[in-house]
Amino acid sequence: MDKPEIVPLHVSFIMDGNGRWARQRGKDRIFGHFEGVESVRAVMEASVEWGIKYVSFFAFSEENWNRPETEVLGLMDLMFRSLRNELKTFLDNGIRFRVLGDLSRVSQRLKDEIKHMEDATAGGQNMTAIIFFSYSGKWDIRQAAQRMAVEGGSDIADYLITAGIPDPDLLIRTSGEERISNYMLWQLAYTEFVFTPTLWPDFRKEQYLDALREYASRDRRFGKVK
Ligand code: IPE
Ligand code: IPE
Ligand code: MG
Repeated sequence: MDKPEIVPLHVSFIMDGNGRWARQRGKDRIFGHFEGVESVRAVMEASVEWGIKYVSFFAFSEENWNRPETEVLGLMDLMFRSLRNELKTFLDNGIRFRVLGDLSRVSQRLKDEIKHMEDATAGGQNMTAIIFFSYSGKWDIRQAAQRMAVEGGSDIADYLITAGIPDPDLLIRTSGEERISNYMLWQLAYTEFVFTPTLWPDFRKEQYLDALREYASRDRRFGKVK
């Protein structure tokens, strides 16, 4: 398969449409989430192959806590088991893994697993893979502003949970919805957006390449005159 002509530094995904994918097949929504994990794997593999340095995924939003309890528990369990399964892949591919969000709401068991994965992969040099979990953009700005007020800093970017991570160059949202849904509000200031009708479980390497081609055709001006 072809390679992208321009490789962004940081590509981020709003993985949407898992529930609809499952319902279309007459299955429970959780099957869509299971299949969605396969898409995460495919996107990570392609990203390493293409030399993308940062790839991030919105996996669970602050608002997603308001879903039915069975779905929330199912997603927590899926996160736990996916982490366990992927450790070897991360280590073999030199991937540094991070989870960003308000983890005070997450069980101790899952928190411990996240910490274990982050520590074990801390030396990964090829790519950083980030999962935004129990995250919202407004929460991030709120916690940053509070810490900045206490510590007396001057650049809010230093206090956001993404401090040290370059802002996304490209944001891809699947499932046809064209909104940010309280994702990185500050960090997306100059990000290029690609919206695709493909449901997340159907989003694989080929669709990823299409989105990168679309990105390559964009003219990023950052407010300047070219
Ligand atoms: C995205 O798929 C995954 C999460 C938000 C956890 P959805 O679960 O939102 O699927 P749809 O949008 O209902 O189809
Ligand atoms: C956005 O998807 C959040 C994640 C992908 C984790 P949602 O399905 O929760 O967004 P809305 O409700 O359609 O805006
Ligand atoms: Mg959705």
